[in-house]
Amino acid sequence: MPRVVFHKNGQTFEDEVKEGSNLVVRAGIKQFPFPHLKYQCGMGKCATCACLVLAGAERLPPPNWKEKKQLGERLDSGWRLACQLWLEHDIELRQD
Ligand code: FES
Repeated sequence: MPRVVFHKNGQTFEDEVKEGSNLVVRAGIKQFPFPHLKYQCGMGKCATCACLVLAGAERLPPPNWKEKKQLGERLDSGWRLACQLWLEHDIELRQD
């Protein structure tokens, strides 16, 4: 099971999630990383869920067109949209 380490406001939250989990979907049903993960649309349209990937980026699929549209140059710095990621591997993320 993928282990997710989530940093927010100087705190660190950590848990395992099922393969194929989406963190925004989980937060929507009040599971980790609820209540810490900030999100809105859940559809790649607002960038509220943007997270900096600190570890595990190399095992994520390439950004989709929604991430490219919303994040632009931030993609090159390691930002991704949590609502567009279905996790299969360990990952460490930070949200500002
Ligand atoms: S929640 Fe709106 S883009 Fe992810």
